[in-house]
Amino acid sequence: MDIHSTVQLHTGRKMPILGLGTWKLTDSTADVIVRALELGYPMIDTSGDYGTQPGIGEGLQRSGRPRESYYLVTKVEETDDAYEATKKDLADLQLDYADLMLIHRPPDSGAGEDLWRGLIKARDEGLTKDIGVSNYSEEQIQALIDATGETPVVNQIEWSPFGWSKAMLEFCGAENIVIQAYSPMTRSERLSHEALVGLADKYKKSPAQLLIRWSLRKGVVPLPKANQAEHLQENIAVFDFELSAEDMGTLDALNEEYSALGPKPVYLQQ
Ligand SMILES: NC(=O)c1ccc[n+]([C@@H]2O[C@H](COP(=O)([O-])OP(=O)(O)OC[C@H]3O[C@@H](n4cnc5c(N)ncnc54)[C@H](OP(=O)(O)O)[C@@H]3O)[C@@H](O)[C@H]2O)c1
Repeated sequence: MDIHSTVQLHTGRKMPILGLGTWKLTDSTADVIVRALELGYPMIDTSGDYGTQPGIGEGLQRSGRPRESYYLVTKVEETDDAYEATKKDLADLQLDYADLMLIHRPPDSGAGEDLWRGLIKARDEGLTKDIGVSNYSEEQIQALIDATGETPVVNQIEWSPFGWSKAMLEFCGAENIVIQAYSPMTRSERLSHEALVGLADKYKKSPAQLLIRWSLRKGVVPLPKANQAEHLQENIAVFDFELSAEDMGTLDALNEEYSALGPKPVYLQQ
């Protein structure tokens, strides 16, 4: 496994195994994107509501990279018209298509079947290669499948040893849905946790690198965000070690249903 490795989507296409998060990129977004592409990041995650799409578009243009050399994930909001929002996202990004469009979160009522139909239309018209969801419970995903016959390729959810769900992992495995891990560094809140730091010392790696490797070992695609050049570099230097089964167990056992976003999220409620 290396930075060029991919995971198979149920549509037959492939997705990189690691991407750059861009929520709250406070440095020049375009500069960070250019640097990340130079370092070898194969995927960028953004959303219509992050405010980073214009800067990402600028960085992608400035990099001079061919479109097929990077994978772009973005999202429509639960209050949007999904089809129209997809077109707006693409205009902000200066792109003809996204690789993956997600519903950012389920709406207050229902599972967002109309949003899902809007993304299906966008996909059928070539505005995005694949479509998926974010912050969805198993029941909500099932409702979209029941309504349309279309299974999301991805559920992007908060995911770290401190907050993860065996039931969601099993459900997504059975449905061939890939989990993308957001806030994989717990937004820095648990990087000093004693057990994590102890294990990191053992592998001569940083706590952040262990968190990324833990996700990869579970077949989950992490999206660490970093402004700082040394963080950007560190977070992809994760392919020269492997966590033992015993140490995976130790990390698994740190689960406290933690969420950096606040109350226990719907996808952890079993
Ligand atoms: N779908 C959703 O609802 C949703 C929700 C939240 C996030 N996301 C996506 O997931 C991405 C990641 O999540 P996140 O931004 O919430 O949090 P995160 O990636 O868990 O944490 C980001 C924080 O970790 C720091 N950091 C990064 N690498 C580090 C390292 N090697 N050592 C020490 N600290 C390090 C960053 O610092 P610096 O920036 O200073 O380098 C930043 O403060 C987002 O950017 C976004 O793309 C999606």
